[in-house]
Amino acid sequence: MALEQLGKACSRLSLVTRPVARFYGEQGEVGMSVLFTPLRVGGVELPNRIVIAPMCQYSAVDGCMTDWHLIHLGHLALSGASLLTIEATAVLPEGRITYADVGLWDDATEAAMGRTLESVRRWSGMRIAIQLAHAGRKASTEVPWKGGRQIPPNDANGWRTVAPSAIPYEGGEHPPVALDRHGLAQVREAFVAAARRAARLGADAVQLHGAHGYLLHQFLSPLSNRRDDEYGRSLENRMRFPLEVFDAVRAALIPECPVTMRVSGTDWLDGGWDIDQTIAFAQALEARGCAAIHVSSGGLTPSQRILVGPSYQVPLARAVKGKTRAPVIAVGLITEFEQAEAIVGTGDADLIALARTVLYNPRWPWHAAAHFGAQVKAPDQYLMSQPRQYRDLFDIGH
Ligand SMILES: Cc1cc2nc3c(=O)[nH]c(=O)nc-3n(C[C@H](O)[C@H](O)[C@H](O)COP(=O)(O)O)c2cc1C
Repeated sequence: MALEQLGKACSRLSLVTRPVARFYGEQGEVGMSVLFTPLRVGGVELPNRIVIAPMCQYSAVDGCMTDWHLIHLGHLALSGASLLTIEATAVLPEGRITYADVGLWDDATEAAMGRTLESVRRWSGMRIAIQLAHAGRKASTEVPWKGGRQIPPNDANGWRTVAPSAIPYEGGEHPPVALDRHGLAQVREAFVAAARRAARLGADAVQLHGAHGYLLHQFLSPLSNRRDDEYGRSLENRMRFPLEVFDAVRAALIPECPVTMRVSGTDWLDGGWDIDQTIAFAQALEARGCAAIHVSSGGLTPSQRILVGPSYQVPLARAVKGKTRAPVIAVGLITEFEQAEAIVGTGDADLIALARTVLYNPRWPWHAAAHFGAQVKAPDQYLMSQPRQYRDLFDIGH
């Protein structure tokens, strides 16, 4: 064999064994695992496309994070995902889903979150986002493992809820108070103040919770918003308050800090919020500098009818992605490596988010990287755990 040919053969060989995210497809072509390619979201560079979705832990005391949050966020921060999203964090005490929700409305809640984040950051370089939320009419409930029912306003652990209109989430519940102009301004300012606190704590991104039937979603959906002022009736009016909140938060943060929005792509009920309205909302957000749209669904009403199955919300993400340029995050029963790869690889979404999957298997991103011949960061203390057959799994560059 001529020296030149030998050289070419060797370089092909080294291509196969190089420790990068490459694999050979059935046709013999070299492919990349898109799941393990970096992506820039606003001013933040993410090393892969795996996001940890926000997950309420109902384990705070007076809005303050506890040791549980250090355990929970700490172990997820070692998972190899690119972004860890802190649970729905209430911007006001009455915006909590339960009395045990995390908040970020005063110095005490800020200090508690600060302690947790300082510890997590000492041992993990994972980017951290905070989801800011107000539960509106779905506030003042018992924690899920105690039944999750509404707690009446006059009970200990309960309070009077607020919403766009005085329509309860479920029949028989205490109705919320419809927010007046002053109340709207207070909520908007609370989002801004919490975003400033998040920035002080070094949050890499802020996500606004516009999904799952909470306050911003209650403004969007015609089923929960029956106002007849400039915040109700038409789509433009129903989007007004969530967009005002977005604008105010965006303006309060440095341009490099991404502000994203989580949306429900549909209420899963005729006459409710749907994918066409979601696309209009996503386009309005994109025009205002929204760094990513996270597409979930449902949560507005107990009458919703959802056919749940693997990737069941991905078609909603795909529809939004087809009509916007902002990165789109898909979520919902994404459990398998090839499933996740297909979602980002075929362009249904730019990122995937995991919730239950990563609680069940907190090293899911490690296993996915091993499956695709890619690399993940692992803490120095765990480097010895690298399996013999995955010699280059851990990215040991510091
Ligand atoms: C324990 C738990 C808590 C959750 N808390 C939140 C939350 O704080 N904010 C939110 O937007 N979604 C929350 N969700 C919804 C998840 O972020 C995710 O959208 C949903 O579970 C679907 O993804 P999965 O199939 O990977 O679990 C929660 C889900 C779980 C399982």
